[in-house]
Amino acid sequence: MANKEQLIRQVRAKFKKQFKVEENFLTLTPGRINIIGEHTDYNDGLAMPAAIDRWICGAVCESPDKSFIIYSLNYNDKVVLTPQGAEKFREIWKQLAAATLHVISARYSINAGVRMVFSGNIPIGCGLSSSSAFVISIAQSMCHLFNIQLEGRQLARLCQKIENRALGTAGGLLDQYGIILSKKCQFMIIDFQDESIDYIPAILNDSTWIIVNSQVHRELSESAYIHRVKECKEGFKVLQKKFGISSFRDIDQPMLELLKYKSDVLYKRLCHVVAENQRVLDMKDQLQKGVAEKVGAILKDSHNSLRSLYEVSCEEIDYLIEISEGVDGWYGGRIIGGGFGGCSLHLIADNMIEKYREYISNSFGKKYGTSPDIIGVQFPGGLSCTV
Ligand code: GLA
Repeated sequence: MANKEQLIRQVRAKFKKQFKVEENFLTLTPGRINIIGEHTDYNDGLAMPAAIDRWICGAVCESPDKSFIIYSLNYNDKVVLTPQGAEKFREIWKQLAAATLHVISARYSINAGVRMVFSGNIPIGCGLSSSSAFVISIAQSMCHLFNIQLEGRQLARLCQKIENRALGTAGGLLDQYGIILSKKCQFMIIDFQDESIDYIPAILNDSTWIIVNSQVHRELSESAYIHRVKECKEGFKVLQKKFGISSFRDIDQPMLELLKYKSDVLYKRLCHVVAENQRVLDMKDQLQKGVAEKVGAILKDSHNSLRSLYEVSCEEIDYLIEISEGVDGWYGGRIIGGGFGGCSLHLIADNMIEKYREYISNSFGKKYGTSPDIIGVQFPGGLSCTV
């Protein structure tokens, strides 16, 4: 997998070869992880994301005509769009590119074309927000090129809308906030009720955050995600009617008990969200105290909740967590992102990383016939644009 410098070299070289000119500027848009606070963003909840050292790099310049031409080095393919823009594509990346370019051109009355080349090292479709990063990198490129002044939160909201509309999904703002507003070596604590953000140092001595990519993709994960969003809305409505609450955050244990009586499924879903919000606060506390064992315990609780209450885990990742329990120096881990496959996040003692890697590759490989990808992550800060 190419590193950041190689990505930059690749897009520059391709840009020059393709368009016979140099780019005006480069963009670097990171992927994100979420330390804790899963499926809380669309419920007025709390979450703790951070951008990671995996990026989509873009080279950009204005076009001499009004066409939009975008190359993806990952797919070794290009898409050419007309300003009228009614194109429909089978490939998700082309759909996202078209939607982003057309929405921004229409909204800001842009009457010019663009040329872009992209290459990325964020694993695609694995819960590290490669799609959101792609939309944001195109949107940010357009803003920079045509001098559109958007504050970070505005850009996040716009990109969320574009992605949800283009893919028919119902994602919250976690990914866009994490990608755009992250700061170097910090974890964000986002309160989605008022969209306020707090930052804490991402330092935990003698331990490392690791991502294990199960490489599992589930076809129905998007519709299952939408179903969870609907269930939460439904559960909230029941409680709102009964107790007159105005936000998901007003829900307490006695209210949940009422829900249990009405619907066991809704009860489980809302129990997860309420407890997950509390886990974000507990995590903040334990990270500040620097207690790796407690941080790990919170991750494990979250995984159990995502598996048995929210029911968004999968057999392969449950197995990963189960076999990790037996490894010395593994503090804890959990499935991350929308769920049903993709990546899990783990906290490991520095001196046990190699052993962990070997053990997991062998055990997982034996059972499923494929080795998961194991990636150590750093926190370089959010989106950047260099002229
Ligand atoms: C996906 C969505 C996010 C968030 C997570 C779950 O990544 O895009 O908005 O809901 O799932 O926490």
